[in-house]
Amino acid sequence: MPATLFEKYGGFGSVSRIVMTFYDKVLDSEEIGDFFDDVDMTRLIDHQTKFISYLLGGPVSYSEERLRRTHATLDLKNEDFDEVARLLRETLVEHKFDPADIKSVMSAIEARRSAILSTGAT
Ligand code: HEM
Repeated sequence: MPATLFEKYGGFGSVSRIVMTFYDKVLDSEEIGDFFDDVDMTRLIDHQTKFISYLLGGPVSYSEERLRRTHATLDLKNEDFDEVARLLRETLVEHKFDPADIKSVMSAIEARRSAILSTGAT
């Protein structure tokens, strides 16, 4: 038994492939694609790979404060969050995550909704 989901699903190499699939979907989305028009995607994929690796129990840390800060100026709505979460779930299904693991990743994402939607610095 691997000790973490990070190991179970193949470490940084697979997480970075998962994150690339995820952003293909995000950029194609009619609802939220425009948010990423001026974003340096190489840098974003790198940071998102760290965040997801952290979430899966990998050897890297990523603070809630950073998540809050990077989204604070975007004026995000619940529907935007729902769309990103939907695309992430779809990505995990395509990458053959077990249903129970998808559930635990998605509840860890849900637990960060208020940080991501927050508009004020704390
Ligand atoms: C669903 C939960 C979400 C998670 C877990 C998440 C995670 C992240 C992470 C880890 C970064 C990299 C920040 C960094 O360290 O530089 C990031 C950046 C970003 N996110 Fe999110 N995000 C979420 C929701 C959203 C939503 C709903 C939108 C807009 C529709 C969004 C738009 C962006 C943009 C535009 C950036 C780039 C900011 C920049 O570099 O200027 N995110 N996100």
